[in-house]
Amino acid sequence: MSNIRISPLEERHIPRVLEIEVSSQSCPWSEESFRNEIKTDHGIFIVAEEGTEIVGFAGVWVVVDEAHIITVAVDESHRRKGVANKLITELLLRAQSVGATCSTLEVRAGNEPAKKLYESLGFKPAGIRKRYYPDNKEDAVIMWMYGLSAWEPVSAS
Ligand SMILES: CC(C)(COP(=O)(O)OP(=O)(O)OC[C@H]1O[C@@H](n2cnc3c(N)ncnc32)[C@H](O)[C@@H]1OP(=O)(O)O)[C@@H](O)C(=O)NCCC(=O)NCCS
Repeated sequence: MSNIRISPLEERHIPRVLEIEVSSQSCPWSEESFRNEIKTDHGIFIVAEEGTEIVGFAGVWVVVDEAHIITVAVDESHRRKGVANKLITELLLRAQSVGATCSTLEVRAGNEPAKKLYESLGFKPAGIRKRYYPDNKEDAVIMWMYGLSAWEPVSAS
């Protein structure tokens, strides 16, 4: 994982980020949504680069003391190498440093890889939003991590 570099999302990253988004999500974000993430002052949006190639990205909104993980995706050919672990870890540390004390997110009930990822970092399921996703009416699992102030990184094996 030492060859993965994390940096803030910039305009020049958007075409590649969109490519990963479209191939990873059943309801992909628009180009405009990513542009807005660069401008927003309550969000932290980062990309993971291997050499000169973007291999993943993730974002969080920090609202008062809550860090809402809004998205994460990793290019299919770079999965299971710890990239998402590194991205979410970086977001949690950055959110911690600006005063977030807890973190939350929603994940599709059937998205086992993402649920496992979040659980491996310390998130716990805390409730269900029934038929939350408009494309297929899938339920969302709400996950929370309390005690973010004292949280420490957990390496992927
Ligand atoms: C979910 C996703 C971001 C994981 O990215 P990744 O870089 O492969 O994840 P990592 O390699 O950092 O995995 C970290 C841990 O998450 C869990 N995990 C990740 N993918 C998994 C899978 N396919 N099956 C089971 N557990 C998985 C494991 O606990 C893993 O640790 P381990 O490898 O030591 O067992 C990736 O599969 C993806 O982009 N999916 C499509 C987009 C998506 O669903 N985003 C989440 C929206 S909420």
